[in-house]
Amino acid sequence: MTESNFIPNYNLTLLKDGKVSWASPSNIALVKYWGKKENQIPENPSISFTLDACKTETELVFEARQNTEDSFSFDVFFEGEKNEAFKPKIETFFKRIQKYLPFLKQYHFTINTANTFPHSSGIASSASGMSALALCLMSIEKQLNPEITTAYFNKKASFLARLGSGSACRSIEGDLVVWGQHNDIEESSDLYGVKFTSEVHPVFKNYNDTILLVDKGEKQVSSTVGHNLMYNHPYAQNRFKQAVENITAMKTILKSGDLKGFIALLESEALTLHAMMMTSMPYFILMKPNTLEIINKIWEFRAQTGLHIGFTLDAGANVHVLFPDDEADKINDFINKELVAYCQNGHYICDKIGFGAKQL
Ligand code: DP6
Repeated sequence: MTESNFIPNYNLTLLKDGKVSWASPSNIALVKYWGKKENQIPENPSISFTLDACKTETELVFEARQNTEDSFSFDVFFEGEKNEAFKPKIETFFKRIQKYLPFLKQYHFTINTANTFPHSSGIASSASGMSALALCLMSIEKQLNPEITTAYFNKKASFLARLGSGSACRSIEGDLVVWGQHNDIEESSDLYGVKFTSEVHPVFKNYNDTILLVDKGEKQVSSTVGHNLMYNHPYAQNRFKQAVENITAMKTILKSGDLKGFIALLESEALTLHAMMMTSMPYFILMKPNTLEIINKIWEFRAQTGLHIGFTLDAGANVHVLFPDDEADKINDFINKELVAYCQNGHYICDKIGFGAKQL
């Protein structure tokens, strides 16, 4: 599929008004997306686990406008309160997707949105938020053109979500999702995420992700600034090449159920992401002392018990602790006794691998 497949060619028969709602999850990358080209095209492919509990729920109310001017018309309410802070990002999103959804300027939109996880948790809500909004817009397109298939609906929702936030394109469908063209992944594309359809060992079923909230503040480095750090980065080309190799390695691991290999790759990816930030100009350290305390505790516990506990990081200080479900009792016990003390106000979120967005 190319971009032109997402430009609609149906006759626009306007609906007067209506309402659509979606719940869309966050996701955690196992092989990270870090670095992008023009138009939200990733420098390297990435693969993620879809989360289950961390979701954004969005209701989109649309009313046909009397006079359609050359501007977008929308209001945003976050957890019931009018929110001006989200507007610029949504305005940019609308500008980027206008070509693919020509009805956008013909409606006034009221966007009512809320997260199932605490707002000030340091958890990026752009993936769940942008994917939920993209899905709502696709539901309007589906009403305008009932012919579109579920496969097209999901592909275009992912394509649009990508234009809102890259990682958002991995939040539409599937427990494991690949975004970015890769020779070993069928149908993979830089334009949208695809469900990982190769064999996955049952040990990855119900896989746990407990998110330890080390720092609940706003992101220190916005993703735009972060990705830009990869321009003229001395190690960028090697990193992009490594990510391609790591996707191949991950595919083999997911099939075999080699948990040791999984953890090694997972943690190496997390530390590489942070190493890229430490070695860019300007440079950043996004881990906090407690991030390192947690990592060391995990390593110590793993060496002592032989249990399959591993971690990954986003572009921040919080730690995602990943482990198989059959070891959950022992590992949850360890988390409660040893790791929760390093979380801000003792806060953490228990999540699991999920299966994608749902219409409400
Ligand atoms: C570190 O998707 O937030 O979480 O495309 O600029 O919105 P934009 O970036 P974003 O970047 C996420 C980067 C990451 C790794 C990942 O999720 O793959």
